[in-house]
Amino acid sequence: MADKLLSRYEELKALVNLHNYRYHVLDAPVISDLEYDRLLNELKKIEADHPDWITPDSPTQRAGAKVSEKFEKVRHPGPILSLANAFGADDARAWFERIKKLDDRVEKAKFVVEPKIDGLSVVLHYRDGQFVQGATRGDGEVGEDITTNLRTVKTIPLKIPVDSKKSTVTSIPKHLVVRGEAFIPIKDFESLNKKLEEAGEKTYLNPRNTAAGSLRQLDPQLTASRPITMLVYQIVHSEGSDVPTSQWEILEYLKSLGFPVTDISKRFNHLKDAIAYAETFEKGRDALPYEADGMVIKIDDLSLAADLGFVGKDPRGAIAFKFPAREVTTTLLGIDVEVGRTGVLTPRAQLEAVEIGGVIVRNATLHNFDYIEEKDIRIGDRVLVKRAGEVIPYVIGPVVDARTGKEKKYKPPAKCPACGQDVEHFEGEVAWYCVNAACPAQLVRNVEHFVSRGTMDIVGLGIKIVEQLIEAGLVKDVADLFTLNKKDLLELEGFAEKKAENLLGSIEQAKGQSLNRLIAALGIHGVGEVMAGDLARTYGNLSALSKAKIDELQQIEGVGPNIAESIADWFSRSANQKLLKKLKAAGVDPQMMKDERKKEGAFTGLTFVVTGTLPSFSRDDAKEFIENNGGKVTDSVSKKTSYLVLGENPGSKYEKAKSLGVKIIDEAGLKRLAK
Ligand code: IVH
Repeated sequence: MADKLLSRYEELKALVNLHNYRYHVLDAPVISDLEYDRLLNELKKIEADHPDWITPDSPTQRAGAKVSEKFEKVRHPGPILSLANAFGADDARAWFERIKKLDDRVEKAKFVVEPKIDGLSVVLHYRDGQFVQGATRGDGEVGEDITTNLRTVKTIPLKIPVDSKKSTVTSIPKHLVVRGEAFIPIKDFESLNKKLEEAGEKTYLNPRNTAAGSLRQLDPQLTASRPITMLVYQIVHSEGSDVPTSQWEILEYLKSLGFPVTDISKRFNHLKDAIAYAETFEKGRDALPYEADGMVIKIDDLSLAADLGFVGKDPRGAIAFKFPAREVTTTLLGIDVEVGRTGVLTPRAQLEAVEIGGVIVRNATLHNFDYIEEKDIRIGDRVLVKRAGEVIPYVIGPVVDARTGKEKKYKPPAKCPACGQDVEHFEGEVAWYCVNAACPAQLVRNVEHFVSRGTMDIVGLGIKIVEQLIEAGLVKDVADLFTLNKKDLLELEGFAEKKAENLLGSIEQAKGQSLNRLIAALGIHGVGEVMAGDLARTYGNLSALSKAKIDELQQIEGVGPNIAESIADWFSRSANQKLLKKLKAAGVDPQMMKDERKKEGAFTGLTFVVTGTLPSFSRDDAKEFIENNGGKVTDSVSKKTSYLVLGENPGSKYEKAKSLGVKIIDEAGLKRLAK
């Protein structure tokens, strides 16, 4: 019996690892997420009953490790070499001429061209197919042991071959050491930064430093939360079984074992074709999903490459065909400050115009005010500016040696540049905010938020019309929307009878929107749709909410001291008080009745998170359905989440729910549960 269970356990580990690989490396899953969950849950159940069976190659062990004190040192089995650079085709040809003189075989050599990813070089050790150790490059001889962090990288196989049925490799070395580049894809980097920005947290500078920093810190949970992946390109060492002797076959071999390998590499019989191929990427580098600073041209025959030896740390058998740098120096003429929808202030560098990779750059981001301080960036400085991929150019830092003494230290504004109100800082965040709801720079964004689908849902009021209304002086705050009349509208360009009537009709309808929606529409810092619902149920109307004290607000689940303060602060401002009065006078003062406020039903006490597209419910429908049954909907998955409602193309919430063991149901399951 136990034997049978043990073999099922082995089978499950292999299956889950295989489906992980199909999903993350091949991008070609063959089972549904629900089926995957079933396998994972079965595996977890066995592990819970038999903790002594758990082995490090179990997919449940990817993020289980604890924070460590420091990294141990690892001696590499062979030198982890670097690459010499070629800047352009002439340099590459000169390299070829040089090595041709050293060995006759070079004349007829083939070449492999690969991307040169700008990431962190890592070295992975496998013993009897098990991933046992991973290290940084370090000084090329000794690196740091970052095994527990690397284990959290889903594209790194924990056991090879991942798919033993498909792999053409029959016997794997007893000890196999491979090398590759760990990195964060550009898109993932951008969405990571967007999330951090929305949370008022520090954003990251660039994908490379973020990947390197996340792998070289002591908490594996943090690494697991960063979208790191890797591509493998070299066998550093192998024992106990033969491995291929050409670079092209090495890539095939690694792929067959289940390692992530680039799919844009190609083999050529002539250097000129290899150069031409590398050049096509120079032009199209923005289309690559990761940051690449060049292509690598490698002699395919690895024994020839080895015989050519190396110069210092650079092997003669390969060359980095570098793309022109996208870092330039220019003068920082000034710093201006932009005001976003939530009032967040972002410093922006005004630069002396400079060309970077075919684009004229006049502005670059400076991230936040702390960044300017930390890097000691001064106005008048020569600064190093980088443009990478499609990411907005950013200032790397000052060229301190170029200072003349005339540079001026920058002081962040104490007042909002658009409205003159004092700026504010929230505990625990790096951002500074303008909290004046009537700030003109925020007004457009505020009105846009107020009328959007998730809040007051005023149909027919797009951004263009919002701008027109503000420009004409008809709307100075969101309450002015409710006193617009036909005569005013007809004076605007593009407005005829019908259009004006339709718009006034939808504005009239919005007066009847629920209290939840109105609270969410106000755009109070930290108050999204979920919290707006909680506030509406607790207070029943805006007048009661506006009198709530900080400690009282904190009694509500999910409201911490910062949000409580932000709510109380918003209502204490005279401009906002005036706004509420105007709304009330215009007939916008929704009440939530006592019986509505305490909904009891099949879902009472349960918390739901919805992800992906559901077959018949829209997001709002699903929310309403859950709330009507007494349940609560939140945005993020935690241990407290009772159910994840799963639709098509789910986001990262799905992964999180799986890792926390949260129950997962589909729309039909949700409906059944309500009965
Ligand atoms: S080959 C003998 N191939 O670039 C092997 N390196 O500037 C020498 N890199 O330290 C390295 N992609 O971290 C090689 N496809 C690739 C690469 C690559 C990125 C990095 C690697 C190396 C650095 C040299």
